[in-house]
Amino acid sequence: MTTHPPATLSPWRLCVAPMMQKTDRHFRYLARLLSPHARLYTEMVTTGALLHGPRDRLLAFDALEQPLAIQLGGSEPEALATCARLASERGYVEVNLNCGCPSERVQSGAFGACLMREPALVGRCIEAMRDAVPADVEVTVKHRLGVDDLYDYGYFRDFVAQLAEHGCRVFHVHARKAWLQGLSPRENREIPPLEYAWVHRLKRELPTLVIVINGGITTPRAACAQLDAVDGVMIGRRAYEAPASLAAFDASLFGAPARPLDEHSVVAQYMTHAAAENARGTPTRVLTRHLVNLFQGRPGARRWRRHLSEHGSGDAATVIAGALERMDTALAAATETPAA
Ligand SMILES: Cc1cc2nc3c(=O)[nH]c(=O)nc-3n(C[C@H](O)[C@H](O)[C@H](O)COP(=O)(O)O)c2cc1C
Repeated sequence: MTTHPPATLSPWRLCVAPMMQKTDRHFRYLARLLSPHARLYTEMVTTGALLHGPRDRLLAFDALEQPLAIQLGGSEPEALATCARLASERGYVEVNLNCGCPSERVQSGAFGACLMREPALVGRCIEAMRDAVPADVEVTVKHRLGVDDLYDYGYFRDFVAQLAEHGCRVFHVHARKAWLQGLSPRENREIPPLEYAWVHRLKRELPTLVIVINGGITTPRAACAQLDAVDGVMIGRRAYEAPASLAAFDASLFGAPARPLDEHSVVAQYMTHAAAENARGTPTRVLTRHLVNLFQGRPGARRWRRHLSEHGSGDAATVIAGALERMDTALAAATETPAA
């Protein structure tokens, strides 16, 4: 199922963004069924959680998810190095450092977007992580254009150039600044304007670096257009809110012949995963919640969604089969020719 991008194309051509409480391993499994080529990212995992919390659970993934990157949240070089080593030993192919999250929780830990103020510290973090993992595991950074009053193209380019000197060559740029005071994380994804031109200029001025653009990309057409200027696109909300779009992004960006997505086959494969997970004790709701948007915009989608939302108990495969039955009934009714 997983197909690494052809060697001639960048491994970062299509990425599914890290999203807390969304891109857990079950969503990633679904994403992989829909997109054979995308590079997938975990939710942010803090160094504290990984070093002192349920490590096995936090690092767990299915081999099918590869190529898979872990995103770390932290700002202490030694702790990040240990976590990077643990992740690479577990098989992650990339360790990404979060320098873009503006939440209060992250600010109180002095990491996330705050780190854009501290390129020297981020450089030390990168070096420590680089030294802790094999050469074929990439250490990358996800960041913004700036934070608060530090919002100037020159500062942004120098931030990237400085990290490149410390061994980072791949940058995921969420193409807007973050306001650390006064805006919620959600507002910080919507209010500061997108400035794609900064990211395109960055790639022109630092052409040897791999630059992945993120923010507001919702159609395969828009994604393809970006690839004239940068190496890759990272899709966030659209991937979660309309997962079937991932199949369209994949087909457009990797040149597959356009064919209608067979959601039924995707659902059947996901049901097998869900049944195995149920048997291991994973609650049904944890498994079915990611399916809710799968039929977005199709006849019967509302019944599908309602059935999944209302049936949190029972085994996942039965719940999903029930939702599919309702969806199919609605679909048949919608396509039935009205009697003359
Ligand atoms: C619910 C949610 C959770 C997110 N969690 C993270 C996170 O853990 N780490 C991160 O770097 N960005 C996180 N983001 C930001 C996304 O990765 C992405 O940068 C942002 O949504 C902009 O891309 P989009 O317009 O394609 O959604 C999150 C976004 C959402 C909507």
